[in-house]
Amino acid sequence: MFKRPSPRLLLERLRNRQQVTHIADELRALSAGPFAGSIEYVEHHLAHLASAFYPSPFREATVVSVDGFGDFASAAWGCGRDTALSLDGRVLFPHSLGIFYQAMTQYLGFPHYGDEYKLMGLAAYGDPSCRQEVEKLLAVRDDGSFALNLKYFRHHREDIAYEWHGGEPVCGPLFSSALVDALGPPRNPDAPIEERHRNLAFATQAVYEDAFFHLLNTLQRRYGHTAVALAGGCAYNSVANGKIKDRTGFTKCYLQSAAGDAGGAIGAAYAVWHRTGARAAEMTHAFWGPSFTDAELAALLRDRRAEIEAEACRVQTIDDEKELVETTARAIAAGQVVGWFQGRMEWGPRALGNRSILGDPRRADMKTILNLKIKRRESFRPFAPSVLREAVPDWFVRDDDVPFMLQVIPIRPERRGQIPAVTHVDGSGRLQTVDRASNSRYYAVIEAFRRLTGVPMVLNTSFNENEPVVCRPQEALDCFLRTKMDLLVLGNHLVWRN
Ligand SMILES: [Fe+2]
Repeated sequence: MFKRPSPRLLLERLRNRQQVTHIADELRALSAGPFAGSIEYVEHHLAHLASAFYPSPFREATVVSVDGFGDFASAAWGCGRDTALSLDGRVLFPHSLGIFYQAMTQYLGFPHYGDEYKLMGLAAYGDPSCRQEVEKLLAVRDDGSFALNLKYFRHHREDIAYEWHGGEPVCGPLFSSALVDALGPPRNPDAPIEERHRNLAFATQAVYEDAFFHLLNTLQRRYGHTAVALAGGCAYNSVANGKIKDRTGFTKCYLQSAAGDAGGAIGAAYAVWHRTGARAAEMTHAFWGPSFTDAELAALLRDRRAEIEAEACRVQTIDDEKELVETTARAIAAGQVVGWFQGRMEWGPRALGNRSILGDPRRADMKTILNLKIKRRESFRPFAPSVLREAVPDWFVRDDDVPFMLQVIPIRPERRGQIPAVTHVDGSGRLQTVDRASNSRYYAVIEAFRRLTGVPMVLNTSFNENEPVVCRPQEALDCFLRTKMDLLVLGNHLVWRN
């Protein structure tokens, strides 16, 4: 089944390999003396599997990586047991669920890196009428794996350009002229989104889910586990993840916060470290990034006071945490858009309450307000709720831990009208569960909002405006001053827009 990649792709891999061999030189340059350690090389998908299993709460689980490509494989699976992990099978180049999804994302007029989220959001607006057309692109095999219908793709026979434009990778079209013949002309990114586009998005998500659940069910029957741990770029398909318990024999599912390639860093480290018989602690939160002291925050606001005042903003400091969170909750309940910058930054793509913009989930107009004031996102993309952990069964049809916002779960039908800003068109919500132990201050804000309103959640979106999520306080202040955000809470310091 393995098909040889193009010469250019092989050349690129060789260049990567050469860069890897320079790691020892880099380490030598960084350390004061000669670098005495040994360097281990861990295969891409083994790193994904290790990054999924070792931080999970499971002693024993099926472990699955579903991806675009890494080391010429697009998916891999195996068994994790205590400190051991097997890699039992792979899907090899050129077959790939990630390529299938990315090609359809490009075809539907979303060419940018990470635009798969847009297709996933759009899918909820479609119906199954295009399903048979899209089913032709992908087949499932008896062994649980899948195969692309290669005539609709070009990555296996032509060079696909990968270039950097404005700080992001841009990938040339992955679909072939045969796909255009079959489905019609691709949507121009500037063209309006029509019913057919919505239905093709629906079909793409449905065909993806069928293949994904076929693989999971085959592995569940083979291994007999009740738990599954997932990683790889496709593990960010939170809509599919939310259906695992309904559509497979798995009753428990775990993904850590950086389930994509960033997670390869801990995966590679864990894969080697666990050979010593160690077992990592469960990763229960994502707050592993940089943090800044109160003195640093205060100095920033002092240094930039003139600029802040020129924007008709004023600074207030509240050292009492109860008063701070109540003031913040009151602002949210009054319909204000609040930049919330606290503690260590999240690791992974989601803002989970330390580099977040918060809003009132009860307001039907909050999505429009956020898009007008800051985000300028496509109107079909949903915003997510951060929900007190114990309130989940009252508001969602399933009770679950979703600390990293990687599962979409239906909101209880009778609750949907109460939280229109975070209810997607199909009645679902991409929830993040918040428990006191993982982030006590964020929990306290939501708890204060619940006391005021009876609603145990806030709308949470990443703290940024068409840029990477803010990391440092000066980036948060820049974003606040540039946009029409109403309030910035920077640690214990509040910057109010008058
Ligand atoms: Fe990967």
